[in-house]
Amino acid sequence: MRDHHAESIAGDKQASRLIVAIDGPAGVGKSTVARLLASRLGYLYLDTGALYRAMAWAVIESGRDPADTDAVAALLPTLSLQMQFHQGVAAVLVSGRDVSSELRTPAVSAAASVVSAIPAIRTWLLPVQRQIGEGGAVVAEGRDMGTKVFPSADVKFFLEADPNVRAQRRHRELVAAGHSGALEETSADLTSRDTRDRSRSIAPLVPAQDARHIDTSNLSATDVVDQMMAVIAAKL
Ligand code: DC
Repeated sequence: MRDHHAESIAGDKQASRLIVAIDGPAGVGKSTVARLLASRLGYLYLDTGALYRAMAWAVIESGRDPADTDAVAALLPTLSLQMQFHQGVAAVLVSGRDVSSELRTPAVSAAASVVSAIPAIRTWLLPVQRQIGEGGAVVAEGRDMGTKVFPSADVKFFLEADPNVRAQRRHRELVAAGHSGALEETSADLTSRDTRDRSRSIAPLVPAQDARHIDTSNLSATDVVDQMMAVIAAKL
């Protein structure tokens, strides 16, 4: 899997193949920041939310109820999941089908939050994520990068932002992607996903003890990346 990415990594920047972990709730700007940071470093951007979304997509596609733990677990042996990288852009393939453009709908978002609380799903995805990140030179973004998937990451960040700012950001993204719906609906969605992500018994969304916290409410993505680079520069 890493081979697909090798061509896009600038050789000299790879002297230190760090693992950078970025966690935080939805709408804090994780994806934008992680993508920008990965591009500055010449690193791979590992969007683990896309993997959970792909699992949710597969559950919906199979006609199963995302909340039916046994039915979801029974689907797993029939699935294969791959992330392919070309010039820093990742495609997610479920059993060979590229589902990348179908992962950001509200239905998939809601189902991803539900299936991500199922232990069998998290256990199944753990080696998938580690295999992509194990060679380092990766910016891994999700909810449990610093606590569970890469507990020995070289640098860990936990992003936070005011809930209203997060809802507005997520709403703008959805509108830009052609989805309709009121801001209030996006806000309610975020709140319920947050509650689920933070309160689940397995790998809940919590900051790693050694994570640096950044409040992105009043910062641009570039500001956040600049702050991160200042920390990372010391390790390169
Ligand atoms: O970051 P995102 O919105 O694309 O994530 C989709 C869902 O997947 C989200 O509700 C939480 C879950 N998720 C998770 O539980 N662990 C991760 N490492 C990444 C995402």
